[in-house]
Amino acid sequence: MNFYVMTLFPEMIEQGMNTSIIGRAIAKGLITLETINIRDYSVTGNGRIDDYPYGGGAGMVMQAEPVCRAYEELIHRMEGSRPKKELEAEICTAPEISPEQTLECGEMRKSAVPPRLIYLTPQGRVFNQKMALELANEKDLIFLCGHYEGIDERVLDAIVTDQVSIGDYVLTGGELPSMVMMDAIARMVPGVLSNADSGQSESFSDGLLEYPQYSRPEIWRGQAVPPVLLSGHHGNVDRWRRNQSLLRTLKTRPELLETVAFDKADRKFLLDVLNNRSGYSLTEEQKDFLGKLLAFCHES
Ligand code: ADE
Repeated sequence: MNFYVMTLFPEMIEQGMNTSIIGRAIAKGLITLETINIRDYSVTGNGRIDDYPYGGGAGMVMQAEPVCRAYEELIHRMEGSRPKKELEAEICTAPEISPEQTLECGEMRKSAVPPRLIYLTPQGRVFNQKMALELANEKDLIFLCGHYEGIDERVLDAIVTDQVSIGDYVLTGGELPSMVMMDAIARMVPGVLSNADSGQSESFSDGLLEYPQYSRPEIWRGQAVPPVLLSGHHGNVDRWRRNQSLLRTLKTRPELLETVAFDKADRKFLLDVLNNRSGYSLTEEQKDFLGKLLAFCHES
C-alpha cells in the first residue's frame, strides 16, 4: 500500500505517521509514505499558493495551478517508477482500449486508470470502517489536504475521485483527517497488526461496538474482573463478550443494531434485558427502542 499526501505541511504528516504501529509498518516496507509540498509548485515565484476568493468573502482560497502541477508531477513520477509490464496490463484491461493496440509509455498516462485521489473536506462523504476496508484494497492512494477556505473548485473537478469528511466538525486543514484515514486503512493491510485476530474481534467488524477488556491485577482498587473471564470456559467467555457488545451498542449507538443479524442466543439475552431478567438496567427510551427492534427484526 502506497500513500501519497499533497499538503502544505509535510512535516506534520511525516511526524504523525512515522510513529508506533504505522511507523513500524513503514520501516518494514509494508506501507510507503510520500509527502508532496504543494508550496513547491507555487506559480508566483515567492511560494504563494493562495489568493482572494472571487465574489468576496472572508479568507483565502488555494489556487488551482499549484495543486494541479503538484498532482501532474506526482502522477508522472509514479508511472515512471512502475514496471512497463504493469502499465501494459492496466491499459489492456481499460475498456476503451483494445488489447491489440500498443502504446508507448508516455501515452499510457492518458488512458491508464489513475490512482484514487481523496480530497479531505467537511463537505465529503463521512468516513467509516466499510470505506477503510474498501480503500485498503487499493495499491496507491493520494490524499489532498486543503487549508484556508478550501481549494479552487476547477482543479477539484479535474483530479479528485473521492471527497471524504471524518465527521461533522470543521478542522483547520486536511492533514489530521488524512492521517486518521491512513491509520484506519493501513491497519487493514496484512502484516501491519501483529496479532492477526485483532482486526476481527473489534468494534464495527461485526456491526457492534467492542466488549470491555480487562488485564491484571484480578482486583484493582476493590474492583474485580468479571468472574466468567477467569473461568477458562471459552464458550461462556464468547457469549459474555457478545452480550456485552450488544448491551454497549444498545446504550451508546443503538442505530447500529438495526443492521445486525441476531441469532437465538442474542434475542434471548436482549429479551431478558428488556424484561429486567438480566440485572442490567435500561432507560425508558432504551427499552422502547429495544422493544420495537425485537418486534421487527428477523432472526438470522
Ligand atoms: N477539513 C476540515 N475539516 C474536515 C473534516 N471534518 N473532515 C475532513 N476534512 C476536513
